[in-house]
Amino acid sequence: MLKVINVVGARPNFMKVAPIVDAMKRRKEQFAPLVVHTGQHYDSMMSEAFFRDLNLPEPDVYLGVGSGTHAAQTAAVMAQFEPVVTREKPDWVLVVGDVNSTLACALVCAKLGVKVGHVEAGLRSRDRTMPEEINRLLTDQISDLLFTPSQDAAENLRAEGIPEERIRFVGNIMIDSLFKQLTRAKESPIRQELAVSGQDYAVLTLHRPSNVDNLDTLGRIIDALEEISERLPIVFPVHPRTRKTIAEFGFGERIEKAKGLRLTEPLGYLDFLGLYSRARLVLTDSGGLQEETTVLGIPCLTLRESTERPITVELGTNTIVGTEREKITTAAFAALNGSLTTNRRVPPLWDGNTADRILDALQE
Ligand code: UD1
Repeated sequence: MLKVINVVGARPNFMKVAPIVDAMKRRKEQFAPLVVHTGQHYDSMMSEAFFRDLNLPEPDVYLGVGSGTHAAQTAAVMAQFEPVVTREKPDWVLVVGDVNSTLACALVCAKLGVKVGHVEAGLRSRDRTMPEEINRLLTDQISDLLFTPSQDAAENLRAEGIPEERIRFVGNIMIDSLFKQLTRAKESPIRQELAVSGQDYAVLTLHRPSNVDNLDTLGRIIDALEEISERLPIVFPVHPRTRKTIAEFGFGERIEKAKGLRLTEPLGYLDFLGLYSRARLVLTDSGGLQEETTVLGIPCLTLRESTERPITVELGTNTIVGTEREKITTAAFAALNGSLTTNRRVPPLWDGNTADRILDALQE
């Protein structure tokens, strides 16, 4: 019997940990899972809603760390997580993704000599101004088992000198949640509530500091959105970070005037999946949404200069458009006219069975 601590911290972690914990509960002769929530995200729509939607059991331990500078947040997670590991003595700790909680908890384990596995290892944007890139690089260096979503990720790890025996190609864990929840999500009343059912619409998400904490960049993106929203409604669930900077930069009025731009609070997992799974087009700076749209065959324009998920461009429906107004609008109109060419292939092992492959590797 393996005792495993599963760490969650921020919104993009919940849909990765849910299928793992679910599989561990199913294989209860082999696994005793615990869920530790660092509290990096704490608003109910950034956290609680996801536990509900994904049937993720209440956390066994809640660290309540909250927001702060990178140093303060990372250090607070470490200080709070260390006594939990010392007390619980797990056989393994699993961390997922690339948020500050991921690195903080991996570092605690490495120092305590407790085995740690990193799910979604090996992704690289090669942009070290992204906090997530630093988290990815360091977490991979100190983890004992590296679970990769795609073959390019394994190549990145090999190039950094990580020995083959630490790497396991298991596929994309987010897709386990997507397949499991798609039917329920399609029943969500969200499209009626937002008055977009039965028509073409786009979905937008925006929260990268490089986009939303920069006046010029955010201004250029809003220029593009104003133009696109004249052609079709754009539904925009707004991340708390973004809501703050829109107000600080005084963009509120412009956004209000753009009639086609429909802002909402952040949505839960099922409502959001129900919404974007029927969208004509997705515009985003998120990582996970590039993968989810690839699986669903929905055109995705990524408002960044790089991606750590190049397979979504090579095989899937993703196009990297950057943050220049004209590039965004040209690509958006091409996508709407059907002249934007992308592939529509689902990458290998993005099949909904990644959690079991991770558990098999832990057992072995
Ligand atoms: C974090 C992750 C990012 C991930 C994103 C998804 C890091 C470095 N970044 O970014 O990789 O894509 O989550 O959402 O770990 N806030 C609230 N309520 C909350 C949480 C945050 O209002 O529940 C506000 C606070 O003002 C906070 C700010 O958002 O200061 C930023 O939160 P933080 O956790 O530092 O990073 P995110 O931008 O959410």
